[in-house]
Amino acid sequence: ANTGGLNLNDVQGDILIGMRKPVELFLFFGISNATDFKVKLKGEILPLVTTTAQILRDDTSAPSTLLNIAFSNTGLVALNATGEANNLNDTAFAAGQVNDVKNLSDPGTVNWVPQFVGTNIHGVILLASDTEDNINSTLSSLQSTLGDSISEIYSLRGAMRPPPNKGHEHFGFLDGISNPTLDVFQDSKPGQALVPAGEILVGQPGDNVTRPDWAKDGSFLVFRQLKQLVPEFPKFLADSPILEPGLSQEQGSDLLGARMVGRWKSGAAVFLSPMFDDPDLGRDYNRNNNFTFADPGQTKSNLTDQSKCPLSAHIRKTRPRADLGPLPENSTNHHMVRAGIPYGPEVTTDEASSNTTEIERGLAFVSYQSNIMNGFQFLQQAWANTPTFRQPGVGFDPIIGMLCFVFNRCGGAAAGADRPVNGLDPTDPARNFTLHTDFVVSRGGEYFFAPSLPAIANTLSL
Ligand code: HEM
Repeated sequence: ANTGGLNLNDVQGDILIGMRKPVELFLFFGISNATDFKVKLKGEILPLVTTTAQILRDDTSAPSTLLNIAFSNTGLVALNATGEANNLNDTAFAAGQVNDVKNLSDPGTVNWVPQFVGTNIHGVILLASDTEDNINSTLSSLQSTLGDSISEIYSLRGAMRPPPNKGHEHFGFLDGISNPTLDVFQDSKPGQALVPAGEILVGQPGDNVTRPDWAKDGSFLVFRQLKQLVPEFPKFLADSPILEPGLSQEQGSDLLGARMVGRWKSGAAVFLSPMFDDPDLGRDYNRNNNFTFADPGQTKSNLTDQSKCPLSAHIRKTRPRADLGPLPENSTNHHMVRAGIPYGPEVTTDEASSNTTEIERGLAFVSYQSNIMNGFQFLQQAWANTPTFRQPGVGFDPIIGMLCFVFNRCGGAAAGADRPVNGLDPTDPARNFTLHTDFVVSRGGEYFFAPSLPAIANTLSL
């Protein structure tokens, strides 16, 4: 890759390209003894932090367990990186995710993991590896190194699903297909968003907020534990198939699921393959993301034509491409790099036969952006949760749309009401599908800042 002047030895490895490992542990901690922790941060943790350059080299000398670290606002306070000169100037980060539930339309914190309620979590260590054993041994050596300087508050283990679902999230859809790349990299794939470095990295061109110098090349990490009601999802699809001539009932259910996401389970985009899955397309990274939602020769999408992809589809809600005007998309700054991983076990036979979740599973959601309000928060609030985004009657994002229970911003949907989603039926786009269940339930999370390696060395440690 052309690094365009970026020093990829300075940037933590998960931010731009993800750590790309099958098993991952998120360890959420509080700092109990700041002086002790700062000494260990420099002497013991910093040498273990995996950089973007190391992951790109992908060489055998790379450690078997990759490590990244990020701090919450209260964590930076504990490290004494406070005061106006140190202000990162991100309101959502400063307040903490627990104070953002209204904007995200989480129904309060009733469903939250208790440890996420409050602002006691000072940081998160991310460990990623090929095996659980590697992670466990790195974890126990970290525990003995850090000793009482930290307290472990909560941890979540993620893992890629077993074959044939490797790389697929728990509903069954291939994930990790479309992520933006920086315009200074020159190996973008067709259809991939090319964004200024400053949309993902703080202090780079395109990040127009005043930041302390030390924050350069860091990125805000949004963590969300998103529980998925997996056995309930196919029941909904089976109950409401899209009955088109030539489609079996089962194909009609698959079509409904594909149109809710905007991609078939193989990853093939419904815009490119509207009626049937096309696994060859799903595998082809040069074709599979190469669309804009506009017809050939058009620079802007036709927003009244949802025959090839609903306006409400998850990937169209979260990246509207030519719906907002001619590409390139550099004119909108609402991009983020996703680096999440599934957590929890496969559906058991009992759960499958009762269509009822008994064991928690979902997505350990991670996104990186230089500005939480323009990135994650904007996508969730202004697009996924706003039924009128682009035009009245579109409805919610059927995968992640949450009910706006506090502000009545939902086009009339009142507290506790079912969520309407339109456009899913290609021949009758006005047909309303009402979601009685949230298939994705927020279990909370926190906002973090993943600093550059020089920031760890020179500002945050001793
Ligand atoms: C893409 C599933 C949560 C934003 C996707 C894709 C799937 C998916 C299957 C298509 C594969 C790909 O393009 O990589 C899920 C599930 C979620 C979830 C099951 C929850 C459990 C979220 C959240 C956000 C989000 C909370 C943001 C608020 C995006 C974006 C894309 C995407 C930006 C790429 C769109 C594009 O560039 O075409 N998601 N997602 N997702 N998702 Fe999600």
